[in-house]
Amino acid sequence: MKKNKLNQDWTAIWRKGHTVFIIDQTKLPFNVEIVELQSCIETANAIKNMLLRGAGTIGVAAGYAMAQAFAEYSNEQELQKAKLFIESSRPTAQNLFYATNRVYEEARNAENPEKRAFETADQILHEDEKNSRIMGEFGAELIQDGFNILTHCNAGKLAIQGWGSALAPVYMAHEQGKDIFVYADETRPRLQGAQITAWELQQAGIPHAIIVDNAAGFYMLQRKIDIVFVGADRIAYNGDVANKIGTYEKAVLSKENNIPFYVVAPCSTIDFSCSCGVNIPIEERSSDEVKKFRNVLIANPESDALNPAFDITPAKYITGIITEKGIHKPEDIHSLK
Ligand code: MRU
Repeated sequence: MKKNKLNQDWTAIWRKGHTVFIIDQTKLPFNVEIVELQSCIETANAIKNMLLRGAGTIGVAAGYAMAQAFAEYSNEQELQKAKLFIESSRPTAQNLFYATNRVYEEARNAENPEKRAFETADQILHEDEKNSRIMGEFGAELIQDGFNILTHCNAGKLAIQGWGSALAPVYMAHEQGKDIFVYADETRPRLQGAQITAWELQQAGIPHAIIVDNAAGFYMLQRKIDIVFVGADRIAYNGDVANKIGTYEKAVLSKENNIPFYVVAPCSTIDFSCSCGVNIPIEERSSDEVKKFRNVLIANPESDALNPAFDITPAKYITGIITEKGIHKPEDIHSLK
């Protein structure tokens, strides 16, 4: 694995030939470093170790890892093994499975499987980019001049190509000249809000503040939040949504305070085979992420810690789901099949 410095206008992931390039998100906001991933195993490990993250970027990387596998292996058994290895990297983001299946199915019977695999993975990246802009346009219609917006985790340019998902309406509203302010939940334990969303917003010149995860209700009650946008890692057939741990509480608080709560995600995040939220696999991560900060213990060493990475927000708490096809009631999401 080679590392370089970044000195260009950035995107989260791109490729040249068989090499995948990513911004190492574990180094942000302090350092911007590009990492080169030269094999299927390197790319799958980068997903697993969260050098890249966010459902869309995970999906694109998984598509490229599958394409790298087509370049590295030729027999069906090895390809199947590689596919399972990529799919074991992170269990919740539906885009990962969407990408491995799509690349695998399109390439396996193609005349030139390797070429078709990379072209299909490129296509997934370009579709995300296009869909992100469209979702931004739909979502920006909901943002009035002077609005204060809450977001949770990072669902911006680093999480999905283009403008991201939840942040796409924010970028669009800003570009339209609307005066907006963003509250970015810090998002314990990995701090995607404090470290990544805040970095992205600052790059774009969008006024914002980081708040601790427990402060959202305080600001809602004070009528300081007008609308909430979050992304999604997987959406079930009935409109239940898996997203970063803490999303559910924000949705319940929004309903209690009559604040519109929108989920923004492309159709590739919908798992039509999953009937409802309880069937979505939730990733359980290491207790060290809760007990340590940059390798320093910050909790009682003798206590165990639990660390679910995602939670489920039942459809009844969601005002609308914004996809590239429009703004939908959660209970209607199945009709997009
Ligand atoms: O664990 P992460 O950082 O990959 O989780 C990311 C999120 O939960 C995002 O909100 C989600 O992927 C939507 S953005 C495409």
